[in-house]
Amino acid sequence: MAAPEGDLLSKAPQPVQNFVRSTEFFGRVAVIYGAYKATQLKAAVMRLQGSSAEPRVKALWDSQHTWAGEQMYDLAISLRGFYLKAGQFIGARADFVPEQICAKLCLLQDKVPPMAPERATQVLCQELGISDVGEVFEWIDMDTPIGSASISQVHKAQLRRFPRSQLRSLARQERGLMACLTVGPGDSAWSICNSHGISLAELAAANKQVEIDDLQPGQVLKVPVVLGLEHFQHSSSSSSSNGSGSGPLQALSRMLSGNSRLTQQHSSSGGGGGSGSVHSSFSSDRAGSINSTGGLSESECSSSSSSEDWLEPGSSLFAAGQQLGKKANLFGLLTSSSSSSSQANALLIGRSGSSSDATSSSTSRSSSSGQIGLPDVHSPAAAAVAHAAASGSVPDGGLVAVKIQYPGALQTMSIDLVNLRATSAFLQKTELKFDLLSAVEELQKQIHLEFDFMSVPGLVSRRLMVMSFMEGLPLLQLKDKVAHLPQWKREKAARRILARVSEAYGLMILGEGLFQADGHPGNILVQGGGRVALLDYGQSKQLGEEDKRAFADLVLAMSKGDKPAISAALSRLNVSTSKDDVGLRSEMAYGMFDTRGKVDPFDKNSPIKQAAVEHFPPDMFFVLRVVQLLRGMANGMGIDDFSTADQWAPLARQAIQKAERKDSKRRRQQQVQQRLQAQPVYDLAAIAAPLQLTV
Ligand SMILES: Nc1ncnc2c1ncn2[C@@H]1O[C@H](COP(=O)(O)OP(=O)(O)O)[C@@H](O)[C@H]1O
Ligand SMILES: [Mg+2]
Repeated sequence: MAAPEGDLLSKAPQPVQNFVRSTEFFGRVAVIYGAYKATQLKAAVMRLQGSSAEPRVKALWDSQHTWAGEQMYDLAISLRGFYLKAGQFIGARADFVPEQICAKLCLLQDKVPPMAPERATQVLCQELGISDVGEVFEWIDMDTPIGSASISQVHKAQLRRFPRSQLRSLARQERGLMACLTVGPGDSAWSICNSHGISLAELAAANKQVEIDDLQPGQVLKVPVVLGLEHFQHSSSSSSSNGSGSGPLQALSRMLSGNSRLTQQHSSSGGGGGSGSVHSSFSSDRAGSINSTGGLSESECSSSSSSEDWLEPGSSLFAAGQQLGKKANLFGLLTSSSSSSSQANALLIGRSGSSSDATSSSTSRSSSSGQIGLPDVHSPAAAAVAHAAASGSVPDGGLVAVKIQYPGALQTMSIDLVNLRATSAFLQKTELKFDLLSAVEELQKQIHLEFDFMSVPGLVSRRLMVMSFMEGLPLLQLKDKVAHLPQWKREKAARRILARVSEAYGLMILGEGLFQADGHPGNILVQGGGRVALLDYGQSKQLGEEDKRAFADLVLAMSKGDKPAISAALSRLNVSTSKDDVGLRSEMAYGMFDTRGKVDPFDKNSPIKQAAVEHFPPDMFFVLRVVQLLRGMANGMGIDDFSTADQWAPLARQAIQKAERKDSKRRRQQQVQQRLQAQPVYDLAAIAAPLQLTV
């Protein structure tokens, strides 16, 4: 069976790994392909006997699909990496994948064989810097994960309780520290959001005085910074127990206690995508007080100094400030405080002391925190829990889901993406006339963010994340649960759930443009009253304003059935096709961006066989993926008349109106500016003169 954690692979040099994986993959695919060809032949021979052979032909195909489903499942489980992800996606495509294959592959969405409990516990302790799970959790079920999927397994747990009296003193802080970011040439708000993992709304909120739709190179923006667990662990290697070390934690401790004034700047490019240059400055003028920008001022933003390396892009602290847009369901961890920073300071110092020996079981109270009554904090992780509890961000009952990444998974995935690129280039020229390479590039760009859990703040390290536990029935189990209901009731329930999931996506894509792009059934829970919960924000995307607007046009045109407008909207989205036929282009648009009907890209009558999609914009790849997953979900529920375009049309209208209002505001501002610039100086004097007279 599998080499579940990719550990074996990590020991072999990369070219060898590449070769081994590719050979195994193509070898197994060839066997499956060969079996299909043989079945085709057998079926053709059977059919020679006339229509009476049909039931036998059907049985033949059923058993072929069942066998193929098992083979594909085994392939995905033993190779893991990208093949797991691909298997999840194929298993969610009931619209053109045989049901026997879907039934097997959908197990990959939340039932991948997990790590053994001992190994999972070892990874968990290592990531949290603890020696015993009891330091952080009241209990945690390590034996049976709630789910295990492509990159991780998830366990249910309850956070440790701390006495109320001890927590109260920690309870008053929540103002975030900010890092500064200098806009680079060619950067736009959305590219900055995507490369730093924050939403446009968050960027706008942190920069109220800045017109974020019209950024200029050299302009300085603020980006929220939240300290994550790894930051504290990171500091342990370089810290000294008296809190006077040079690590980030010590620096922050000094800063909050007013002993130092700290300004940092780094001019290297931003993490994740090279957007902007980042520098950070934190200051405190008096004990425990952070200035009104939450830690820095504009002038500090533009000052430069040290070469200390603790806030460079890609460092844990910087990463902690990234991806705030994905913080749904996560705890905020300690940041700073303007009102009660002595407590915050004490907490930091408490952590600092403990972080010098993260795994020791001795209670750590620094002398300066003694009178505040810190809980007995044994490790940074325990401090994080205490803080989360103190700041009220622990969910009711302390129930959490602990997501543990499989060690070695990122390495395996990276190797596969290199192989996938080569395969896509081949497929694109032969079987599938679609710009697959753009899609692979987008995946390659995004995948590092998905594996880096530090991109969200809270009780989190790069490979471990603690989230609120969501109650609900996995969508995959719904079928069995409702099997006893009459047909009409099942259908009604299915339509309601589908409509809600789809509505959520419409609101995300056409609302703020920030959306979770991994909506396979393994990531959907059904709650009471048909409410739905979306899990797993690892693959998220922020759409740019232009793309959102063009997509809204497309949705409206599709819901009206206006073919020329559909074709025009495709052009605005930068989708180019080898034929300019409006009918064909609109058929392609429905196939890509609406859920109605069935679409089989391998069917010889499919529009994609008649004309190629020569260019597909990488930024729209995740929208395409969402729509295809929704279509798969609809078909899997036996619904083939559901149209996202129809459902999203009112949202598209709102998005267009909003964009138009923004445009006209910007035009008015530009006109005013132009008029002011055009006004000669002496004219201003002439205007001023009569005013002076009247005064
Ligand atoms: N917050 C949560 N509450 C309840 N169950 C969860 C939660 N997060 C994940 N799960 C379960 O764990 C499974 C795997 O988690 P997920 O985040 O989707 O991992 P992956 O990134 O590997 O796909 C999910 O399919 C779901 O069953
Ligand atoms: Mg998932």
